[in-house]
Amino acid sequence: MRILGIETSCDETGVALYDSEKGIIAEALYSQVELHAEYGGVVPELASRDHVRKLLPLIEEVMTQAKCTSAEIDAIAYTSGPGLVGALMVGAAVAKSLAFAWGVPSVPVHHMEGHLLAPLLEDPSPEAPFIALLVSGGHTQLVNVTSIGHYDILGESLDDAAGEAFDKTAKMLGLGYPGGPALAVAAEGGNPDRFRFPRPMVDRPGLDFSFSGLKTFTLNTRDDCAAAPGGLTEQDVADIAWAFQDAVVDTLMLKCRRALKETGAKRLVVAGGVSANRLLRQKLAEMVLKQRAEVFYPQLRYCTDNGAMIAYAGYQRMLAGAESDLKVQVRARWPL
Ligand code: KG4
Ligand code: ZN
Repeated sequence: MRILGIETSCDETGVALYDSEKGIIAEALYSQVELHAEYGGVVPELASRDHVRKLLPLIEEVMTQAKCTSAEIDAIAYTSGPGLVGALMVGAAVAKSLAFAWGVPSVPVHHMEGHLLAPLLEDPSPEAPFIALLVSGGHTQLVNVTSIGHYDILGESLDDAAGEAFDKTAKMLGLGYPGGPALAVAAEGGNPDRFRFPRPMVDRPGLDFSFSGLKTFTLNTRDDCAAAPGGLTEQDVADIAWAFQDAVVDTLMLKCRRALKETGAKRLVVAGGVSANRLLRQKLAEMVLKQRAEVFYPQLRYCTDNGAMIAYAGYQRMLAGAESDLKVQVRARWPL
């Protein structure tokens, strides 16, 4: 089976072709980062317009790369939510139109299921059951995956997602956009002994998260530094970035450990943009070693948004008997 995957939920136009025997055989990704950088965040209308410009050329590129004709495609999978409605509409409309023209089904995919299944494209790939930590710009969730398609949310963020907290904190520190990678780089020069930020919600039972308090903590620390003689220095920024990243990563690690202990699971899967974070990977590696468990990630380019994870999730949806109709339906909010 060959599935074409289309991702347009935010600021990445991703297209990929998944072959059930060979894996991902072609892919193309266009990032709108430069387009949004001057605004310090994603501008939804600009995102939609850019998806309109880039999507069809990317599809052509992928089909050419794979030397594949439309007759060899069995289904078209597209992200139908959650995400920016206008951006989602572009992917959905193109997917549905092509599917109609090619006489194949179109398969709506939940963006977070795409992230969750991305590590299964790797070798070795984790077998269900496992615990998944989904950490992106829009979500922070711990999910008990009993089998593909069966997901129980064990905990989630009650306010900001981890990636969102990284982005907002980076903006506060003048580190630019996208904030997560920029903050991680700034933190490398930070002094670990200068500030210690709280680990939100770790002292009470449960697996939910809260990151908005850390933002306030960052703001106050930044303002204290700025009020000192000499104002806010580059070293202050690095030290604050270090303390912030340490607190977020520690909190994520502690909750993953709790989820493994409470469920008895021995496999942890981590996906979504923040799973690219080096410190997070290091701390989780140390933790799973002590718990006699294993941790799995997507390769770096599949941590952030991409078409491959949507093609693969679409394949799994097809196996589960997904059916499509011609209504273009997208959802800005959509529980997993
Ligand atoms: O999964 P993704 O590409 O898009 C969403 O579905 O939201 O995740 C993007 C998020 C952004 O918030 C970005 O700042 C964060 O992932 N991110 C990182 C790193 N790389 C990306 N956060 C921390 N450290 C990183 N290295
Ligand atoms: Zn995403």
